[in-house]
Amino acid sequence: MYKLVVIPGDGIGREVVPVAVQVLEKLLPDLQTVEAEAGWDCFQRHGSAVPDATFQALLECGAGLFGAVSSLTGQRVVGYRSAILQLRQQLKLNTNLRPVRSWPSISPRPGVDLILLCENSEGLYCGREHWESEGVAIAEWVISRDATQALALRALEVAKARKARRITLVHKANVLPVTCGLFRDTCREVLEGEGWAAELDERLVDLAALQLVEQPEAFDLIVTSNLFGDILSDLACHWSGGLGLAPSLNWGQDIALAEPIHGSAPDIAGSGRANPLAAILSTALLLRYHWQKPALAKRLEKAVENFLLEEGKADFGFETTRVVGQGILAAL
Ligand code: NAI
Ligand code: MG
Repeated sequence: MYKLVVIPGDGIGREVVPVAVQVLEKLLPDLQTVEAEAGWDCFQRHGSAVPDATFQALLECGAGLFGAVSSLTGQRVVGYRSAILQLRQQLKLNTNLRPVRSWPSISPRPGVDLILLCENSEGLYCGREHWESEGVAIAEWVISRDATQALALRALEVAKARKARRITLVHKANVLPVTCGLFRDTCREVLEGEGWAAELDERLVDLAALQLVEQPEAFDLIVTSNLFGDILSDLACHWSGGLGLAPSLNWGQDIALAEPIHGSAPDIAGSGRANPLAAILSTALLLRYHWQKPALAKRLEKAVENFLLEEGKADFGFETTRVVGQGILAAL
């Protein structure tokens, strides 16, 4: 019996998540779903961006699908903190797995197949931000040996499962020798200590960004901290076909939350133009890594591949969410 907490959130999250759930139900006919709330709209109605009931449901079910939430940029709202950051930190979803691969018809380049594995609970996203004085604001960058060790062990697990040729550590230890140095050294200690025998190399984040543009095929498994991973994954997902095809998995011990990496996309919300593939492919990550059903994950990814081979060049306009969802169901 598989249980899934469904958190549509805001904007296009509400449009793509039901489609992804329908697809997952076809693969797992005994799937039990529980709907839960989070996000900006939820905050306005209940005064909390993530109600206790949502945390409880996730702890009970151990798996969730999160659409997207809106955060107000440019203004601070007292009491509001990004729902997804709260979920990642409080549920100890310490790793974020973001695969990037070429798809037929729509990817601007064939042959790309890499995974970004990012620390998910600390770094600059730890939420420690304050005003030091008028006109001076401070944000803290937290790196701990424990969280980095946990990330490196995950990297090893993923690398072995996908028979990776290379692990690349991405950091900025030349400018941040204490924090990024601890990150780099801890990753190396764990990987070398656990007998990682294939290639282990490293890049400063700025050069990594250039090489992800110039030669994305050179990367296999990238291990990095929170902020760098967030930026590099949006950059790298260009090779998949953009944000509409970029899935992710927030991954902890015995708990995982699938999440398309895109946001609530207010510019297209309500228009029917949201691509549901990022949400659909996020459920494939739950299948592969959390529920340990790699054959089902492969079946789903194959269905996406076949659909894109046939229809990838078509523009479905205001019918995109519906037609793509129907197309994947038919391809399964
Ligand atoms: P966004 O990802 O929502 O949109 C960026 C651009 O990509 C927009 O033009 C949008 O129409 C397009 N796009 C995104 N997903 C798409 C899809 N599935 N199909 C077709 N087009 C798609 O990022 P933006 O505009 O920076 O942020 C909008 C809101 O989302 C903000 O409030 C932001 O805080 C929030 N956000 C939430 C995230 C989350 O919940 N995990 C992640 C990123 C942003
Ligand atoms: Mg992002």
